[in-house]
Amino acid sequence: MMVVLIPIGIVMAERAEANLWGELTDTLYAWHKAIGFVVMLLMIVRIVIKVRMKAPAYPDSLPRTLQIAAKASHHLMYVLLVVVPLLGWAGVTAFPALITLGAYYLPAMPLVPQSTDLAAQLFGLHGTLAIVLTVLLIGHIGAAFRHMFKKDGIFRRMV
Ligand code: HEM
Repeated sequence: MMVVLIPIGIVMAERAEANLWGELTDTLYAWHKAIGFVVMLLMIVRIVIKVRMKAPAYPDSLPRTLQIAAKASHHLMYVLLVVVPLLGWAGVTAFPALITLGAYYLPAMPLVPQSTDLAAQLFGLHGTLAIVLTVLLIGHIGAAFRHMFKKDGIFRRMV
């Protein structure tokens, strides 16, 4: 879902910036909002699973500093996977632009007032943090492949 969300987000925001409105831009926005909202809901399930099931220990072969770095980047990814969609949802509530696929509307986020200035700030933060998340994801996927080829037990632990 992230692999499609990020390019769709970048392309649609660029089309909006270039004032290229029309069916394609609307469709990209609709898909982005719908998929992003589902990611946010799935994160609730993921966090419940994460809290209830303990992750296996790291193999002793992994240096302590790398274990700390891995843990920190995983926690940051969890935080961003919750905060980024929340900011997007808050932004479309403030704008307001809650319409998604097939003319279905997302619920408005409670307590968020309607204001285009607020929406612009929320979208700015949403976009910036989404890029930070993208960098972390690329690093995460790269590290996973590296461990898969090194066969050091880390990839097995992930699975
Ligand atoms: C993990 C989930 C999400 C990711 C990774 C993500 C990522 C992105 C990215 C990369 C952009 C482009 C930013 C730019 O180039 O300026 C973007 C824009 C946008 N996103 Fe998301 N997004 C997510 C969830 C959502 C959700 C749930 C909504 C709304 C319900 C949403 C609404 C928007 C809107 C309206 C824009 C365009 C903002 C603008 O025009 O400035 N996003 N998103």
